[in-house]
Amino acid sequence: MPKGKKRKFVEKRKRCGRIVGLAVCSEKDSIAFIIPIYYNFSESKYPIIVDNKKGQVNTMEKKELLYEGKAKKVYTTKHPDQLIVSYKDDATAFDGQKKGTIVGKGAINNRMTNHIFKLLEQKGVPTHLVEELNDRETVVKKVEIVPLEVIIRNYSAGSFAKKLGMEEGIKLACPTLEFSYKNDDLHDPFINSYYALALKLATQEEIDAITKYAFVVNDVMQEYFASLGIDLIDFKIEFGRLADGTIILADEVSPDTCRLWDKETHEKLDKDRFRRDLGNVEDAYNEVFRRLGIQ
Ligand code: TMP
Ligand code: ASP
Repeated sequence: MPKGKKRKFVEKRKRCGRIVGLAVCSEKDSIAFIIPIYYNFSESKYPIIVDNKKGQVNTMEKKELLYEGKAKKVYTTKHPDQLIVSYKDDATAFDGQKKGTIVGKGAINNRMTNHIFKLLEQKGVPTHLVEELNDRETVVKKVEIVPLEVIIRNYSAGSFAKKLGMEEGIKLACPTLEFSYKNDDLHDPFINSYYALALKLATQEEIDAITKYAFVVNDVMQEYFASLGIDLIDFKIEFGRLADGTIILADEVSPDTCRLWDKETHEKLDKDRFRRDLGNVEDAYNEVFRRLGIQ
């Protein structure tokens, strides 16, 4: 690091609070180096993230509420290309007709999503994750959400089992992929890729990227959940476009958006406990979180 920069860096260090972690940064033409992440107790209620190679310190604070969905709130930040997602304990089903609260869900879904997204990044799936701020809040890359719900199924369950007159829990000969058009007024109707093209919801290149990533997500998550004694029955994911058009995984991966059954007992450890009034909803979410082993 050049001398001038080093001095500035030390000054910042004096002004800031205690070091809570280390971030490894790399500069194109120089070697990788390690910079501390600070928590500044005096200026912000959130961790301060050192976000670039110059060692500049940025407070990540929520600015304006951009959007409030059924399970999350999204805030702008001072970075035009980054947002803060805040996970709620609110739960809905059947297009919001059924409403309730799953105590602790927001924290579990936030931390579980980030944990899985890190794993997926390692396996070559780009995601919107930037930095977990606290139990419920995460800095994410701003994307334009592709209005498609991408559903992968490994076993029969839910709408698939109902539509085809099947029992739940039958292993499919191969995983399936389906799209729903994200539109609450229309109740997210099932569509195929030709509809998506015809309605200009996505381009062929985007559909190809989404399909490729979705199956990688399935392979990675199936193997990972299996190691936790859980069968991944099915799940829903969403993708977004960065400003340059790159497709990345967005939204969440949690017991809200996956069907997760205990391998031995086939007990449901997901939101179906809420949807179907099966009871022990919080216990199921906590059990998944416990098995993830996140500190
Ligand atoms: P389905 O069997 O009801 O079509 O659900 C398939 C998967 O999608 C299941 O893992 C639950 C998830 N899902 C969501 O994440 N959001 C939704 O609104 C719905 C209906 C399902
Ligand atoms: N997204 C659904 C709703 O509209 C909830 C669900 O079934 O997961 O409330």
